[in-house]
Amino acid sequence: MIDLVLTGGTVVSEGAEDVADVAIDGGRIVAVGAPGTMPAAREVVDVTGHHLLPGAIDVHVHFREPGYTHKEDWATGTAAAAMGGVTTVFEMPNTDPPTRSVAELRAKQRAADKAIVDFGLYGLLAEDNIGELEALAAAGANAFKCFMGNTFGNLPSPSTGAMLEGFEIAAKTGLRVSLHAETASIMAWRQARLEAAGHNDPLSHIAARPEIVAIEAVSRAAVLAEWTGARVHILHISSAGELRPLAEAKARGVDITGETCPCYLHFTTADYDRLGSVIRVNPPVREAKDAAAIWDALQSGVVDMIATDHAPHTPEEKINPVIWKADCGFPGVETQMPLMLTEVAKGRMSLSHYVRIAAANPARAFGLWPQKGRIAPGADADIAVVDMTRRETIAAARLHSRGKITPYEGQETIGAPVHTLVRGVFVQKDRTLVAGREGHGRQVTDIQRMPDAAPRHEDQSLAAILGTAAAA
Ligand code: DOR
Ligand code: ZN
Repeated sequence: MIDLVLTGGTVVSEGAEDVADVAIDGGRIVAVGAPGTMPAAREVVDVTGHHLLPGAIDVHVHFREPGYTHKEDWATGTAAAAMGGVTTVFEMPNTDPPTRSVAELRAKQRAADKAIVDFGLYGLLAEDNIGELEALAAAGANAFKCFMGNTFGNLPSPSTGAMLEGFEIAAKTGLRVSLHAETASIMAWRQARLEAAGHNDPLSHIAARPEIVAIEAVSRAAVLAEWTGARVHILHISSAGELRPLAEAKARGVDITGETCPCYLHFTTADYDRLGSVIRVNPPVREAKDAAAIWDALQSGVVDMIATDHAPHTPEEKINPVIWKADCGFPGVETQMPLMLTEVAKGRMSLSHYVRIAAANPARAFGLWPQKGRIAPGADADIAVVDMTRRETIAAARLHSRGKITPYEGQETIGAPVHTLVRGVFVQKDRTLVAGREGHGRQVTDIQRMPDAAPRHEDQSLAAILGTAAAA
């Protein structure tokens, strides 16, 4: 007797859609095959007419605990994920305190004890914790996050010198470095000039952070990655311009991946009037030509994946007539899948391509493949059961996040996850959170590190020259 069979659904992979049953035992998928050929199970759930996708892997969420639990905590954040068909999240280190030492990583792990879905944890890569990076990796950080530009939490961005050493160390750990790729000094300069001149309107946010901040940061990060052998990931791609240094680095063989978020596909400068400071996000939503170029790059593979930068704040923190005083970002982990399935329904991308950008590619980039990101024997039974015809209307008041404000308010969606399973356990069933699942989520531990992180030139790393442990 095995645990569970999902029967009658259509299993979606990167290459195909097949009507197949899925057999699950001990949290893993044990068989995928023709209806009626599965082993006997204690529970059989009929999912006829629905599609089975590997649960989404969102490598960019802010769950705010410790420090800002009035915005979100691990229970509310992972409840939102479960409702959104997201079965694994990677959580960012700009909490209070930030996740920059082993003790702080341990505190984050304790906060995450109540997680409903699986998770990875970012350790900070900053100027003042270069000496902690190896210990963070050894203690179980799943990746590093480097803020090249300031955003919520105002963590100082490292100098290029500190970044280079950070990349040298990260390369040796085999962990990916995710980059908030906006150049701090350009933005600080421009914002000060704008503020001094009395510019306070929503579009001034873009004036302070024009496309060049992303182009400069992505270009610099790419050459540092190439030099050190560090694998890197460009977070929240917002501009047409940064796609070029990204594509060029890929063509040179740099291990670099990129994500975008739904807001950069759906909103443009035309929405700033209507949405005001609600749309304020770092990096900013830009022009229609940027959204169009990012769409193309998501189809062609230059942009590898969709993430959300789930960044909840309260309505009071978001709404401000002075744009500089409004907190940046909004919740996204619960709405990503319905929004992107709507694009599938409109014929803008295939369901298989959605599986690639929402699950398979993030799993590969962050070392979770082949255990996660696919529906196949041996993989974790992380599954979003999707009704491609279900129509819903996004309403912040109904979101499970504590951040009850979204630029998508009133937006209609077509297609939604009607059940979510994490390692074979229903955490969401029939569009309702299953009670008592807090603590089911686990940190992903057996992630695969980059096998060969050698720099492409004679080793000139500080560790090699100074003879410190990292050189070994
Ligand atoms: O708008 C943003 N908000 N962008 C980020 O990169 C961070 C985030 C936050 O933590 O609020
Ligand atoms: Zn973020």
